[in-house]
Amino acid sequence: MAARGACWVIERAGRIAAATLKGKKSMTNDLPPADPGALTTYIQSRYHDLHRAQLPDLAALALGVERVHGDVPEVPNGLGALLQRMIGALEVHMKKEELILFPAIRRGATPGLGAPIAIMRADHDDHAADVAKIRLLTDNLTLPDSACRSWTALYEGLATFLADLDAHIRLENDVLFPQFEPANA
Ligand SMILES: [Fe+2]
Ligand SMILES: [Fe+2]
Repeated sequence: MAARGACWVIERAGRIAAATLKGKKSMTNDLPPADPGALTTYIQSRYHDLHRAQLPDLAALALGVERVHGDVPEVPNGLGALLQRMIGALEVHMKKEELILFPAIRRGATPGLGAPIAIMRADHDDHAADVAKIRLLTDNLTLPDSACRSWTALYEGLATFLADLDAHIRLENDVLFPQFEPANA
C-alpha cells in the first residue's frame, strides 16, 4: 500500500480531473445531422474537441496512479505512456480529417476520396488496437478493492473516453465514409 500522504496528493488531482471530465461530457441526446457536410462539423465539435479535452487529464491521472500505487498488483503499468502516445496519434489523425478530408466532403468533392478514406479507416484500426491494449492493461477497467478516488476517476474517465471514441469511429466508418467511397460515390 502506498504512503497515505502521496495518495492524498493524487486523490486531490483525481477529484479535480473527475470534475473536469464530468464537465467535458457532451450532451448525450444530441443527434448527428443527416447532411454529410453538417455531419463533419458535428463530429469535430462532438468528438474531436472532446477527445482533445479528455486525454491529457486521463494520461496525467494514469501516470499518478502508476507512480503512487506501483506496488499494487493490479496497477496498469504503461497506461500513462500509452495514453500520451494516443494523444499524438489521435491528433495527427484528426488533423488529417479536419484539414483534408472533411473540407473536401463539405465542398462536395466526392470523386477521389476513396484513397484518403482508406487511410482514415486504417488509422481507426490502429486506434482499436490501442483500445485493446487499454482494456488488457486495466483488466477491462476492473478496479481493485483498494482503489483510491484517483484510480476510480481514471477508470470512470476511461470508460467515458472509450465509449465516445467507439461512437466517433462508428459514425465515420458506418455513416459518413460509405457515402464517399467508390462503390457509392
Ligand atoms: Fe474523426
Ligand atoms: Fe476518424
